[in-house]
Amino acid sequence: MYDIKKTREQFPMLNNKTMQGHPLVYLDNASTTFKPQCVIDATVKYYSEETANHHRGDYDLLFNMDKKVQETRETVARFINSDAKEVVFTSGDTMSLNLIALSYGFQFLKKGDEIILSENEHASDLLPWYEVSHLTGAVIKFIPLDKYGCLTVDNLKKIITNKTKVISVAQISNVLGNVVNVKEFAKVAHENGAILVVDGAQSVPHMKVDFKDSDIDFLTFSGHKMCGPTGIGCLIGKYELLQKMNPYFVGGGMNISFNKDIEMVPYDAPMRFEAGTQNIAGILGLKAAIEFIESIGVENIHAHDRELCEYALSKLEKCEDIIIYNKNAKNGIITFNRKGVFAQDEATLLNSKGIAIRSGQHCAKILNDYLGTPATCRMSTYLYTSKEDIDAFVDAVINGGDILDAYFN
Ligand code: ALA
Repeated sequence: MYDIKKTREQFPMLNNKTMQGHPLVYLDNASTTFKPQCVIDATVKYYSEETANHHRGDYDLLFNMDKKVQETRETVARFINSDAKEVVFTSGDTMSLNLIALSYGFQFLKKGDEIILSENEHASDLLPWYEVSHLTGAVIKFIPLDKYGCLTVDNLKKIITNKTKVISVAQISNVLGNVVNVKEFAKVAHENGAILVVDGAQSVPHMKVDFKDSDIDFLTFSGHKMCGPTGIGCLIGKYELLQKMNPYFVGGGMNISFNKDIEMVPYDAPMRFEAGTQNIAGILGLKAAIEFIESIGVENIHAHDRELCEYALSKLEKCEDIIIYNKNAKNGIITFNRKGVFAQDEATLLNSKGIAIRSGQHCAKILNDYLGTPATCRMSTYLYTSKEDIDAFVDAVINGGDILDAYFN
């Protein structure tokens, strides 16, 4: 059985921390997550005992770092089932998606080609493709959401054509928490000559994602949403695609040679995409984070998120004042509003009780039409969220008192 008490003990941020005089209840995990001591230790150890660059010298300290960076690539590959040479380190999900769009997209798309996105998408999966559209003349289309806000294969089939070259979707929406069947999406994409890009920012930390089995072409995610450091993430790409792509960032560490004839020969993937000194402390922290998640089991994390959401929903649904926008998702995200109350006011009320949630548009600014509201509140769980956290949250939502208390108490 999953031992939440043992898990919580490993997070300094959960050690008697208070907010507004109340025990901290952190329910903004879709935004970022706390770090266990092993991740903090791995990054500190790099700075205090192991500092060296990698791939740039001939001494033991540096060889040690070459080995550790490679071990991290292998750890990531094992975690999401890819080959190590398919793992590119980036600063995070946003950089990964920009890299795909501005490298693959700019290189291979032309006027009239189609890019399929959805209204569910985060800015990081929309705006890079907007740039590609502006730069190449490719056309952007949106998969219609069904009545639950889900992306279905049937709706994808309705809009895909032989001009579609790229489909890019989040595997789990950061607002509605719905899961996309990426294996089916990849099949439909490939039958139509397109590639599938999967934004895994919300899925990789919370559920088993299998890059090879699902046959997706690119997968992106961030370390900081899965107990890892900020400023580190990954782009996973099928090797033959990565090899065809021109590097987007250039500089030291990514080239075999360059000369005065303005020519440059890049390394093979993944190194061709890793210009400049990398976030090595972040890379080592990511390895520790993945090992930590593996020690719990990502399936256990998924079950834990679901159980907590079902528990919270069973209570919130009884409250007539609360509108829930994603009753069916149950993937660690509940998006809601109190009738007649602006989302930020509700979040301020919860803050006054020590509860951290996110309010607003959650960077998914074109989802408002579907939601029928300019802003929502979002609570999101993770592996250390306890039933007591949910009780405190539900109690504050249901019996929170006057919204004005939050401002004037
Ligand atoms: N993408 C993060 C969120 O959804 C920041 O909150």
